[in-house]
Amino acid sequence: MPYSVFFRFIHLFCALVVFVLIPLGFFMKAVDDEELLITLYDLHKSLGVLILAMVVFRIYMRVKTVKPTSSASHTRLERGLSHITHKSLYTLLLVMPVSGWLMSNAAGFPVSFFGLFELPDLVAKNDETMAIYQNIHFFAAFVLITLIMLHAAGALKHHFIDKDTTLKRISSNNLGKAGGILIASTTSLFFAVSIYLWVSGEGVQNTAHENAHAAGHASIEVSPHGLPAEGISAYPQEGTHQSEHHRDR
Ligand code: HEM
Ligand code: HEM
Repeated sequence: MPYSVFFRFIHLFCALVVFVLIPLGFFMKAVDDEELLITLYDLHKSLGVLILAMVVFRIYMRVKTVKPTSSASHTRLERGLSHITHKSLYTLLLVMPVSGWLMSNAAGFPVSFFGLFELPDLVAKNDETMAIYQNIHFFAAFVLITLIMLHAAGALKHHFIDKDTTLKRISSNNLGKAGGILIASTTSLFFAVSIYLWVSGEGVQNTAHENAHAAGHASIEVSPHGLPAEGISAYPQEGTHQSEHHRDR
């Protein structure tokens, strides 16, 4: 059974949202302007929650409906590798938003979905557990980026080298060389921007540091991998201008 048009759309939509979410996650931490910082954090959280909803829906559909069969041209090794990669991608697309949600609640902030409604708090405010969720979110992001690159590289290899229908099955049956080049360019751009924003993370952390001070957080230590050290959050604390603004939404 091939991929349905509906599933092809979900795959494209999720891929594009993740291509925005990851660079946005790195970028937003470097923003100085308080209003913009809050807007970008809210946008990042809302898009993350959207991914969570779509992935839960996709997993439900996979369990309840007939699974798309692997392409007949794939070897046993390729089938095994793609199964592992797909399962890992699904796992990370759950770990990322859930750790983000837990991190926000543990930092004392609610999670709103595009200002339409607020999600229930999963945990109470706690600086220590907040640092754990923050680390999970941070490191899982790198595993996700690596997996996406392997996944996309495999798909492009099938399209350009093996010249089979693997990529066509999930995009468009009429996808030609130009379409493949467009997908390869978009993926490379995502990768380059993400790596650039991560590598320039030294500045990011410094600014996050300043933002925290600007928001009334008197002391913030930066840990060796660039994250605020345990127990101290790059978030403004409750009761400051930012958190009041946040909760008013
Ligand atoms: C954020 C980016 C992406 C994520 C999270 C993602 C995730 C996934 C997942 C979970 C599946 C398995 C679907 C299922 O059978 O349930 C899948 C399939 C697939 N994806 Fe992606 N994908 C991403 C980007 C891409 C890109 C950029 C390409 C192309 C270069 C691509 C090509 C494919 C192909 C060809 C399949 C079907 C593989 C097969 O039939 O064995 N994906 N993707
Ligand atoms: C698939 C979904 C998601 C992806 C791929 C993603 C990705 C990222 C990335 C790459 C970063 C920068 C690295 C880091 O500091 O961790 C980041 C930061 C962040 N994300 Fe997410 N995220 C997702 C979902 C969420 C959700 C749902 C929330 C909250 C509800 C969230 C809240 C945050 C916060 C608050 C930060 C900044 C952490 C800090 O200030 O140290 N994320 N995210």
